[in-house]
Amino acid sequence: AGVSAEPTSRTYDSSSLPKFCFEKARVWKDSSVKKLITDALNKNQFLKRLESQQIKDMVECMYERTFQQGDYVIKQGEPGNHLFVLADGQLDVFQQSKLLTTIAVWTAFGELAILYNCTRTASVRAVSQVKTWALDREVFQNIMRMTAETRHEQYRSFLRSVSLLAKLPDDKLNKIVDCLEMEYYDKGDYVIREGEEGSTFYIIAKGKIKVTQSMEGHEEPQTIKILQRGDYFGEKALISDDVRSANIIADENGVECLVIDRETFSQTVGTFNELQKYLQGYVDSLNRDDKKRHAKRLTPPV
Ligand code: CMP
Repeated sequence: AGVSAEPTSRTYDSSSLPKFCFEKARVWKDSSVKKLITDALNKNQFLKRLESQQIKDMVECMYERTFQQGDYVIKQGEPGNHLFVLADGQLDVFQQSKLLTTIAVWTAFGELAILYNCTRTASVRAVSQVKTWALDREVFQNIMRMTAETRHEQYRSFLRSVSLLAKLPDDKLNKIVDCLEMEYYDKGDYVIREGEEGSTFYIIAKGKIKVTQSMEGHEEPQTIKILQRGDYFGEKALISDDVRSANIIADENGVECLVIDRETFSQTVGTFNELQKYLQGYVDSLNRDDKKRHAKRLTPPV
């Protein structure tokens, strides 16, 4: 424990997206919990300077740790091995034996020793039973080493393997890569909801996704398709303001999607019309599929 033995750089082929052992370090958690942890990290004056992708990766890798009343979560002067977010209970912060403050629920703490490689600047003690989300220092350091450049290189080679973008000129592809973010989903998470407005386009980098749609004669939306790595959805949002035509739901844990936001996209790529040319053919074919499906709506799916 302590010093990380991870190499600082690795080579990847296009079939494996970025990861030290990101997959092993990921811990399933409810999307509402993820949101609370994300807000806590973004509220911290030191952590909020990190890239939003790094914050997302940190959230994915945090795991639950509980402490009993009277336990020291952190001891002043010791090396720091974890960064925490308080989820429940009361924690006091001391220096020597002087009480400095009480930590509010959904606040990040223990960030200083992790960020600046110094010893703990204060002690943190549980006044009641306490629940926290913790991140190991080695995992934090690995996430920091995944620079934007490394990630972009991996996204680039992956996107080249996506049929929709295969023929896109290099400069366009590079611009798209610059405005991508990775989003994570677990089984049952909605990526898109039918009928909602949306302005994001997704490419699946890992895992299986279910497409469901409301149909006459059925109370519940019906599954119409399963999508997987390399497949994409939400592309209509890049072209028009249409509401979402289907639900997109993660069908297993650990689903990863690359996301492009229309706003960022049109600002960065600028010549959105050009991509539109490439996408249009694909969207036309989708529309044809849709028409076929609409025609069949009255018959229950097989
Ligand atoms: P760290 O030094 O890693 O471990 C102790 C933590 O206590 C520290 O990070 C901060 O998160 C927190 N801390 C230190 N000093 C104060 C303070 N004056 N007020 C609030 N929190 C503090």
